[in-house]
Amino acid sequence: MPVFEPLTLHTARLSLRLIDTGDAAALFTLFSDPEALRYWSSGPWLHPAQASDSIEQTLRAYDDGSALRLAVVLTATGELIGTATLYAFDRRNHRCDIGYMLARGHWGHGYMPEVLAALVEYGFGALELHRIEADIHPANTASASILRRLHFRQEGHLRERWFVNGEISDSIIYGLLAADWRAAQA
Ligand SMILES: CC(C)(COP(=O)(O)OP(=O)(O)OC[C@H]1O[C@@H](n2cnc3c(N)ncnc32)[C@H](O)[C@@H]1OP(=O)(O)O)[C@@H](O)C(=O)NCCC(=O)NCCS
Repeated sequence: MPVFEPLTLHTARLSLRLIDTGDAAALFTLFSDPEALRYWSSGPWLHPAQASDSIEQTLRAYDDGSALRLAVVLTATGELIGTATLYAFDRRNHRCDIGYMLARGHWGHGYMPEVLAALVEYGFGALELHRIEADIHPANTASASILRRLHFRQEGHLRERWFVNGEISDSIIYGLLAADWRAAQA
C-alpha cells in the first residue's frame, strides 16, 4: 500500500483537501462544540493551542503515512465545515479505521455520506485497502445511519472500551470490505 500523495478529492458539493496551519481557528470552532463531540472518543477542546497541536500531529502523519486527515470544505465558499480521516493503517493487512466530524450547523444535508463515499473510493482505489473499520458510540444513531448507507456492516459490540469525561462507553464496530463496496457500486 503506497504512502499517500498530496491530494484533493472532489464531490458534487464538497472538496477534501490537506489540512494546513491556517485551519487552526476553524478546527478549534469545530472540535470545541460539546454537542458535536457528544459521542467522540475524547472531550471537546478547551484551548486554541489544541488546534495547533492537532495540526502538527496531522502534518507529521502526512509525512510518516500513519493517518490521512482531510479538511472537508464547501466547494462554493471554501469554508471548512468538517474533517474526515483514514487512520490506524495496518499496511500488511491492507486495512485502516475511518473517522469523521461535521460542524453542527451543517448536519442533515447528506454532506458526510457524500464525503465518505469519496474517501472510501480513494482508500479502496489509490491506497489499495481491503477493509475499512469504524468504531462508534452505541447511541450515535446518525453515524450508524450513514455507515449503513455506505454499505458498512455491523460486525461487533465491544464492551466498556472508552473513558471520556468520566463516562465509560461501549463500541459498535462496523466493517466495509473492498468487495462489498465494489458490489454496491456495480
Ligand atoms: C454523524 C454525522 C457525520 C452525520 O453527518 P450528516 O452529513 O449530517 O449526515 P446526514 O445528513 O446523512 O444525516 C444523518 C443522520 O443525522 C441525523 N440528523 C440530521 N440532522 C440532525 C440534527 N440537526 N441533529 C441531530 N441529528 C441530525 C438524521 O437523523 C440523519 O439520520 P437518517 O439517516 O436516519 O435520516 C454528523 O452528525 C456529525 O459529524 N456528528 C458529530 C460527530 C460524530 O458523531 N462523528 C462520528 C463519530 S463515529
